[in-house]
This record gives sequence, C-alpha cells and structure tokens, in this order.
Amino acid sequence: MELKSGNILLRPLRLADAERLAELANNEKISVNLRDGFPHPYTLDDAKSFLQRFSGQEPITFFGIDYNGEYAGNISLVMGQDIYRKSAEIGYFLGEPYWNKGIATTAVNLITEYAYNKLGIIRIHTGIFEYNTASMRVLEKCGFKKEGVFSKSVFKQNNIWDEIRYAKINPIFDKG
Ligand SMILES: CC(C)(COP(=O)(O)OP(=O)(O)OC[C@H]1O[C@@H](n2cnc3c(N)ncnc32)[C@H](O)[C@@H]1OP(=O)(O)O)[C@@H](O)C(=O)NCCC(=O)NCCS
Repeated sequence: MELKSGNILLRPLRLADAERLAELANNEKISVNLRDGFPHPYTLDDAKSFLQRFSGQEPITFFGIDYNGEYAGNISLVMGQDIYRKSAEIGYFLGEPYWNKGIATTAVNLITEYAYNKLGIIRIHTGIFEYNTASMRVLEKCGFKKEGVFSKSVFKQNNIWDEIRYAKINPIFDKG
C-alpha cells in the first residue's frame, strides 16, 4: 500500500530504513516534541526494534515518508480500542533537513484520506505540547480543529506543560 502526492510518498517501513531512521531521529529537537517512548539518544538498535515491530503490518498504519525518493520520516495511526475503535491517534516526525517544505502537511492529508476511506475511521485526533507551534500549524492547515487544552497534563524534560488537543472528523459525520 502506497499513498502519493507529487514528490511525497507514504510507503511501508522497511528494515533497510534503520540507519537513516537512527540518524534522523537522534535529534533532541524531535524527541522534545514526542512521548518518552521515543528515545533520546536514538540508537541503531532502537531503529531496528521499531522497524521489526512495524514492517509487514496488515492493514498498514505505520508508514515511512519518502521525499524525492529519500526516506525522510514516519507517520502513523494508532487505532482506538473497544468503543473508540472508529477513532485513531495520528503521530508523525520528519528529519530536520526536511522541515518547512510542506511535507508533513501533505503526509497528514494523505493518511487522513486513507484512514477515512480504507480503514473506516471517523475521528483522527492527537495532542500537541504547548510549545510545538509547527505541528499545530500543520494540523490547522489540514483542517483539524482545536478541541481543548489538557492543562498541565504533560511531564516532559522535568517540566509540566499543557497539551493542546486537535481532531478532524470524517466529513460524512461532521455536522460542523
Ligand atoms: C512538526 C513537523 C512534523 C512539521 O513538519 P514540516 O514538514 O516542517 O511541516 P510543514 O512544512 O508542512 O508545515 C510547517 C508549518 O509550521 C510553520 N512553522 C515552523 N516552525 C515554526 C515555528 N517555530 N513557529 C511558528 N510556525 C512554525 C511553518 O512556517 C509552516 O507553516 P506555513 O506553511 O503556514 O508557513 C516537524 O517539524 C517535526 O518533525 N518536528 C518534530 C516532531 C514533532 O513535533 N512531531 C509532531 C508531534 S505532535
């Protein structure tokens, strides 16, 4: 399964991505915006165990992002369980050399359409740490709505932060 728009391709993760993933992900400017499950420092072994877990998925919910044929980052959907099984949490990161080229915006739009049309998802949501303006801008450009603030809910790097919650509803169900 591949999703494409111009020079941006979402495609299955491969074990061969390990070296580049480790290089790009080993960056505190990335890890500071993600949960602590995303390690820092990020080693080649971290990359290999992540890729072993998520390559060969069916249906695929974790994609590699290629830009001009180069592996540039990841984008994923984590499916909700039980009564939340029509919801999915979106997550993404790009290596720093690829920032501010519109790649995340295109990748979010591609995976959103896939979630609605192929996975039957109704609601896509995520939480963004209060200082991550770039990610909030990405979601706003993609038509996500700010739903609220989880005040002081995040403990990251020994400080307490607000989490800003965003969601986008499948237009079939979005009554405004
Ligand atoms: C967030 C991230 C995915 C954005 O990827 P990207 O491909 O650079 O995003 P885009 O180019 O599509 O859009 C970025 C937007 O944010 C804006 N932006 C970037 N840095 C900014 C900043 N410090 N303050 C305000 N706006 C900023 C850009 O100008 C652009 O908006 P514009 O098109 O209106 O000019 C990337 O920075 C990243 O991987 N960050 C680390 C991991 C992360 O934060 N993941 C998301 C966790 S919720």
